[in-house]
Amino acid sequence: MKTDSALDSPFGHVGLGGMFRSSRTRRPGEVNLKSCGLLHRSAAEFHAATLSHIDPIEVLSYPVYDETYALAAEYLGVNTDMLVLTSGSDPGLGLLVRAFPAAKRIVLHTPNFEGWSKFAVIAGATLDPVPPSAHTGQFQFTDLLDRLGQGPPAFVVLTQPHSYTGQVHTAAEIEELAYQVGRHGSLLVLDTAYLAFTEGGEDLVRGVVGLPHVVRVNSFSKSHGLSGARIAALALHPTRANNLFDLDPEGTISGVALALLRAALAEPAVFDTIQAEVRRLRELFAALIDESPFGWRARPSGGNFVTFDAPEPAAIAAAHAYLQQHGVITRDLSGLPGLTAAIRIAVADEAIMFRVVDLLTAWHREST
Ligand SMILES: Cc1ncc(COP(=O)(O)O)c(C=O)c1O
Repeated sequence: MKTDSALDSPFGHVGLGGMFRSSRTRRPGEVNLKSCGLLHRSAAEFHAATLSHIDPIEVLSYPVYDETYALAAEYLGVNTDMLVLTSGSDPGLGLLVRAFPAAKRIVLHTPNFEGWSKFAVIAGATLDPVPPSAHTGQFQFTDLLDRLGQGPPAFVVLTQPHSYTGQVHTAAEIEELAYQVGRHGSLLVLDTAYLAFTEGGEDLVRGVVGLPHVVRVNSFSKSHGLSGARIAALALHPTRANNLFDLDPEGTISGVALALLRAALAEPAVFDTIQAEVRRLRELFAALIDESPFGWRARPSGGNFVTFDAPEPAAIAAAHAYLQQHGVITRDLSGLPGLTAAIRIAVADEAIMFRVVDLLTAWHREST
């Protein structure tokens, strides 16, 4: 039994109220189009085959990293000494803020990946959120720079493509942002969790990766269907990579996760084909909904999801609830900055997307 004095510990800090305790559930038959994992039949079959052939040595002994490093370096177009593998980009970002404790500010477009509120706690830093333009509804890299200029050196986060809207920044914008962030003595964090689904995406970031003031954080959760395996890579200047290795970034990666990524990267054609199909389905899905009588408008997206704007939030809430009742989980974004009435729906395989279209059509018919 704890005494009151134990409860009054000097360590008693209020924080975020434990908001990152996992509350995920998985009901049989449910399809999660909220988290944007790669729910594609071919990806599932590929990983199932890897798992059925995995050498038990991967489980019996501590992991060996070299081969996965070589393949990941090739995939990201960098040298292996510029790469740090982590057990997901979420812990990778946490590592980054711990490795550079002097930075006490995180400048980022908002809304953004929720993990950033946790990284701010880890770093003892404050979030400096920058909303989309009130005129265009678009995120502007210049707004990040304006905000950056108002304070001391900071982490500056650009999610390319943006994880709520799918907005893609041009190579010229990213290069200018990187240059100005460097001049300010700050660090640009380029989160490319969804870049594999952007046509020509690698060309948009290639010019800045490896600069001393740029870190690319690349999750394999969405691109290669490895959300549950927990594996990601940080690509950065070799000197900065060494800073991260001081904190033992690899210690939490399992041999099984390494084997799954290794197998996926060794067969690039398999995932190139899946990603191309997701892009094709994304455009088809967006067009089908745009043409439907709901009055929704798809935003152009570089991710494996489509964000739709609707005339008013009640319709989004109703559609979201209807899909959920029928086992399809989506993300109601209404009320977030720049997203008055909006929903984000991940793109899975063809069978799932046609089911979503049918469900939305039924919802609309029943609600009018
Ligand atoms: C923009 C963005 N960054 C990072 C992550 C975390 O990815 P990981 O599964 O590699 O931790 C997510 C997950 O949703 C995301 O949307």
